[in-house]
Amino acid sequence: MKLETKRLMLRPWQESDSKDLYNYAKDSRVGPICGWQPHSSEEESLQVIKNVLAVDETYAIVYKENCEVIGSISLFAPSSANIQSLKEDELELGFWIGVPFWGKGIVPEASEVLLRHAFEDLGCMTVWCGCYDGNEQSKRVQEKCGFSYEHTEADVPVPLLGETRTEHFTKLTKQDWEARNR
Ligand SMILES: CC(C)(COP(=O)(O)OP(=O)(O)OC[C@H]1O[C@@H](n2cnc3c(N)ncnc32)[C@H](O)[C@@H]1OP(=O)(O)O)[C@@H](O)C(=O)NCCC(=O)NCCS
Repeated sequence: MKLETKRLMLRPWQESDSKDLYNYAKDSRVGPICGWQPHSSEEESLQVIKNVLAVDETYAIVYKENCEVIGSISLFAPSSANIQSLKEDELELGFWIGVPFWGKGIVPEASEVLLRHAFEDLGCMTVWCGCYDGNEQSKRVQEKCGFSYEHTEADVPVPLLGETRTEHFTKLTKQDWEARNR
């Protein structure tokens, strides 16, 4: 499955993306805010592609201007979502991009096409999103895409970092998404 926007191509991760992945995932401003450690080698990035990213509905974000992979965006099914107790017809949206590309509206652009895919192709009725307390950038993306605040949970485990955090959750229903796109 490939999805396209004006500036981006979203396509499945490939092992040959390990160099680009390492280039952006080694930056300590990206992984820890999402709940994972910065990558320490291109080999580690390759293993992450093989074991984590090369799954259905997780997409490499390719910046068409330079053909580089600059980030990742996912729709997680209830069985693989970070958010507990999603219903059968609900999905969780997750994303990150490399620091040099922050602030250009790239993730909202990628999210819009993925939300359309969720609601029109995958039979989803509600997409959820979450961010840890203090992640104002992610909160802004969620607002721009029409997500509404739902609730906050304290002491949420962050297993890869061995800590707990406060997490805020938002959601976008199909009905609200349709109203926005009318
Ligand atoms: C959160 C993230 C995906 C946003 O993607 P993006 O494509 O930069 O999104 P936008 O361009 O819409 O910017 C969103 C907000 O980030 C802030 N921002 C912009 N440039 C920034 C910069 N250089 N540094 C810090 N914040 C910045 C702004 O508040 C902006 O909102 P605005 O457009 O209303 O001013 C990206 O910052 C990122 O990958 N962060 C690290 C990983 C992460 O937090 N993932 C989400 C986990 S829940």
